[in-house]
Amino acid sequence: MKDKAINICLVGFGNAAQEFCRMVITKNLEIKASTGYDVKVTAIAGRSKGSIINPKGINLAKALMDVESNGKFDANAEDTVNMDTIQVIENCSSNVLVELSTLSIYDGEPAISHIETAFEKGMHVITGNKGPIAWKYQKLRDNSKQRGLQFLYETTVMDGTPIFNFVKYTLPGCKVLSFKGILNSTTNFVLEEMESGNSYEDAIKEAKRRGFAEEDPSMDIDGWDAAAKTAALLNVLMDTNINPTEIDRQGIAHITLKDIEKAKEKQCKIKLLCEGYIEDNIAKGKVHPVYISNKDILSNIDATSSILGITTDLMGEVQVIEKNPEIQQTAYGIYSDLLTLIRSL
Ligand SMILES: NC(=O)c1ccc[n+]([C@@H]2O[C@H](COP(=O)([O-])OP(=O)(O)OC[C@H]3O[C@@H](n4cnc5c(N)ncnc54)[C@H](OP(=O)(O)O)[C@@H]3O)[C@@H](O)[C@H]2O)c1
Repeated sequence: MKDKAINICLVGFGNAAQEFCRMVITKNLEIKASTGYDVKVTAIAGRSKGSIINPKGINLAKALMDVESNGKFDANAEDTVNMDTIQVIENCSSNVLVELSTLSIYDGEPAISHIETAFEKGMHVITGNKGPIAWKYQKLRDNSKQRGLQFLYETTVMDGTPIFNFVKYTLPGCKVLSFKGILNSTTNFVLEEMESGNSYEDAIKEAKRRGFAEEDPSMDIDGWDAAAKTAALLNVLMDTNINPTEIDRQGIAHITLKDIEKAKEKQCKIKLLCEGYIEDNIAKGKVHPVYISNKDILSNIDATSSILGITTDLMGEVQVIEKNPEIQQTAYGIYSDLLTLIRSL
C-alpha cells in the first residue's frame, strides 16, 4: 500500500455511514499519529443522495452538511459523478471498500456484488451489512484469502461489541460448540412493553416512534433479522455454509398478552432466542420465542440491549452483553475494523 494511505470507498450514506464519517473527521489525526496512516474517504456511492469521487479526499464536513440540509450531495460540485454503485467502485482510486448499504435479508445483494467487485480490484473490504456474511461468507472469505486481502465484518452482529474479534483474538484454540442469544432489539422491546401491559400494536407504534423499528417492522417481528444474525454467527464461528432461509424461524407476531401473563405465573419472561448448535454432526440454527426463567441473566436483557453466550470446548460458556447501543456503537465497529486492517498491513 503506497504512502501509508487508506483511501476509502464508502457504499451507502445512511445513518451508520454518516456517523462513521464523523468519527473519521474526529479521529483522523490520532490515527495518523499512532499508525502513520493517512485515512481519507475518496469515494461515496449513494442511491438517492448521488455519488462523489475525489482521489484527493472528499470534504466530509461538506458532504454531511449537504445531506443534512438538502437530503443529497451537491449536484454542481466538481467531484459529483453520475455513476451507479458498481461503476463508482470500479472507477475510484480507493484501496478499501466500506459496505454500508441497505440490508437485503432475502439474498444479500447487491452488497455481495459490491464486495466481489472490490476484491477483483484488489481492495480490502469492511462490511457492516450482514447480508454478505449471512449468504456467502465462505466464498467471500476464500476469495479475500486467495488475493491476500482483508475481509472484516465486526459490526454485522451486535454493532461494535466484539463478537467475532472476541472469539478470534481472545479465545485462541477454543472450538465454538454452540451459541445462544437475544439479538433483535425491536422484538425484545415489544415483548418488554407487553410485559408492562401494553398491547402488541401499541408496542410496535412506540418502537417506531423511538426510531429503531422500520415502517414495515415484519423483518424484525417475523424473526428474519434474527435469522440473518444466526446464519452469520454459524458461518463465521462454526464454519458453516448456511443462509437465513435455512434457519428454523418463528417470530413473535402470534404472542398475546395472555401468553405474557402465563410466563409471569411461571416466574418467566418470553424472549426471542437465537440458537446455533450441532445436531447429528450438522450445524443447525433456530430463532424462536421461549420462556426464560427470571433467574437467568437472559431475562434481564432489556429494551435494545443484546446478549450472546458462546459455549466452547475449552472455556465453557462465555457471555457478552451490549447495553442499549446507539448509532455511534455501529460506527465504532467499522472504525475498529479499520484499525484492525491498518495493523495487518
Ligand atoms: N443502524 C444500525 O444500528 C446498524 C447496526 C449494524 C449493522 N447495520 C447495517 O449497516 C448498514 C447501514 O445501516 P444504516 O442504519 O446506515 O441504514 P440506512 O440509514 O438505511 O442507510 C442505508 C443507505 O444505503 C443506501 N443504499 C441502498 N442501496 C444502495 C446501493 N445499491 N448503492 C449505494 N447506496 C445504497 C441508501 O440510500 P437511500 O438514501 O437512497 O435510501 C441509504 O442511504 C445496513 O446494512 C445495516 O443492516 C446497521
